Amino acid sequence: MSWATSGGPGRITGDGAVTARAPAKVNVHLAVGPLRPDGFHELRTVYLAVSLFDTVTVRRGRGLSLAVTGEGRTAVGAGAVPTDRRNLVWQAAELLAEHAGVAPDAAIAIDKAIPAAAGLAGGSADAAAALVALDALWGTHATRGDLAGLAARLGSDVPFSLHGGVALGSGRGEQLSPVLARRRWDWVLGIAGEGLSTPAVYAELDRLRADGRVPAGTDLDPAEPVIAALRSGPVEALAAALANDLQAPALSLRPDLRRALRAPTAAGAVGALVSGSGPTVAALVEDADAAVRLAATLAGEGVYRTVRAVHGPVHGARLVG
Ligand code: C5P
Repeated sequence: MSWATSGGPGRITGDGAVTARAPAKVNVHLAVGPLRPDGFHELRTVYLAVSLFDTVTVRRGRGLSLAVTGEGRTAVGAGAVPTDRRNLVWQAAELLAEHAGVAPDAAIAIDKAIPAAAGLAGGSADAAAALVALDALWGTHATRGDLAGLAARLGSDVPFSLHGGVALGSGRGEQLSPVLARRRWDWVLGIAGEGLSTPAVYAELDRLRADGRVPAGTDLDPAEPVIAALRSGPVEALAAALANDLQAPALSLRPDLRRALRAPTAAGAVGALVSGSGPTVAALVEDADAAVRLAATLAGEGVYRTVRAVHGPVHGARLVG
């Protein structure tokens, strides 16, 4: 039975609104293989969902409309998040409607806490939350497997935004297997003022490899050290296993990131790396108190636009309210 017809546990409010939220992610391990004929790179990555959430609220409407609020809605230099078909949420709505054979009628509001173009999968989180919320609004009875299939068509990171927790991603990132993490991991995210384009960072990696300035990366290791470290700690083991092939091209495109990457360890973090295609820096710390202390120190240094203390793993996209 769908939430819409069951009257479910308070999912659809008096004004007919349904709300879902989905988390940001950090890639604690990101190995990039060769460029495939379809324009994507073969990946081996370990995703960790962290406690910074975007919220998507949907209501009945005529046709589709999109409104975006929240401090994550602009990436300085990259312009505001679009409110038309270019937005992944719009594409998610059309895809789910087509899958379910319903009219794509909804007024959608996105409240963005996850900054855009930051390497934190904010757009993917929005798309995953929209799938979950619209499934409930429209009573489409999509299974989790159906939603995962639609998510993979929307983008490489969208299946993980739906899944949450910790997962090993292969293929272009969309093929997931769950990874066990027995403890909570605390991080500080250092968010830059200006976003980075994911395709541009991948293209820069290809260029650096063609020039022989970074290893070719055809060998995709099974990420065992990082999976073992995530399972049971200690924090030093995870710090030693952090790796991201996109860090070199992100630094090449944005030399000022070097300082942003050095700052956390100089201020007491156990380890740090660029998150995904950047430019966000994810700094690993011992516990929640250390995260609060480091966040305060880094905010005082003014290296980043915004600093956030977060933890993971957290759940993937789900209904709230
Ligand atoms: O899947 P998504 O839309 O997030 O990918 C954005 C872009 O990032 C792709 O068009 C491609 O340029 C690059 N990418 C890639 N290999 C991947 C994932 C993304 O080259 N595995």
